[in-house]
Amino acid sequence: MNNLQAAAPLKFLLKTFVCQLVAVSFVIIGWHFVPAIPFIIIGACVVSYSMAVLFSLSKPWRVVNLLIPLSGAITLFLDAPSWIFLIVAIALFLIYAPAFVTRVPYYPTPRPAYDLILAELPTDRPFVFLDIGCGFGDLLSFLSKRRPYGRFVGIEIGVLPWLIGWMRTKTGRYKNLRIHFKNMWKAPLDEYDFVYTFLSPAPMVPLWHKAQAEMQPGSLFISNTFQAPAAAERDVPIDDRRSSRLFMYRMSGRVRVPETLYEELERKSLGRPDGDRSHESLSSDPRSSEGSRGVSTEHCTKGQGSD
Ligand SMILES: C[S@@+](CC[C@H](N)C(=O)[O-])C[C@H]1O[C@@H](n2cnc3c(N)ncnc32)[C@H](O)[C@@H]1O
Repeated sequence: MNNLQAAAPLKFLLKTFVCQLVAVSFVIIGWHFVPAIPFIIIGACVVSYSMAVLFSLSKPWRVVNLLIPLSGAITLFLDAPSWIFLIVAIALFLIYAPAFVTRVPYYPTPRPAYDLILAELPTDRPFVFLDIGCGFGDLLSFLSKRRPYGRFVGIEIGVLPWLIGWMRTKTGRYKNLRIHFKNMWKAPLDEYDFVYTFLSPAPMVPLWHKAQAEMQPGSLFISNTFQAPAAAERDVPIDDRRSSRLFMYRMSGRVRVPETLYEELERKSLGRPDGDRSHESLSSDPRSSEGSRGVSTEHCTKGQGSD
């Protein structure tokens, strides 16, 4: 993994900046030729959105790009209070601040991947699924509704995504879903039959070591887009604009974590895997964890899809 690869996920912030730069250029040049406010506002939104499409930004980010010129215009012409900008800035900070340390910004799993992940999960047996860096919990809520025998756990280090995801679990609509504010390096992986990640190239090597050391034989490690440093059992193409893939790794047994991994993580201020098993119990779920390991490991070992 080189530095260029590691910086790749931050590219979307740069692309957003370029989208807005082009929109501002449009405003300056457009005003010169057609000094009509509605034309300029609509034009800036269209230009910004089109640039986001051109850069293949995800749909939510296209909408964000469309809204930036609009909110600028509203503030300017409707004399909107400046605290709106402050709130937006704080919200963006609470979503993206950890990325400066983790080098993993938030962006959602593309929708076409949802069904591919769902197809890996058993329909008739208990299992436990972890989304490392679950964002707002969109994928987890989709999966948990469709696999009632499964228990779904998300961990997230971004304050706002975690808070919104956590609040979702409190609505009572998701009985088999829990979302925790937790650093992935502090989360043991030994109780999960499926571990899903969509991160960036930056943590993949140490994360793979951690998965090898902690995940049970037969369990499945699924990485969206970013490969682990090992041959995948399968890779499944995702029908999205980036032609990304899901890389599936069947875990073969626990491998000792090299001490250099801990040193590397500490050097990067990412924390040290500590075998902490304190995350909240899911025992309130009527389908308790009892037996889930045996059943779903059998499922995993046989490598059967259930759908
Ligand atoms: C690309 S997003 C994936 C979002 C989500 N999995 C989904 O499918 O929509 C990666 C997420 O991982 C989170 N993250 C990055 N490093 C983390 C860490 N060390 N522990 C927990 N979450 C982390 C980020 O805050 C971000 O929300």
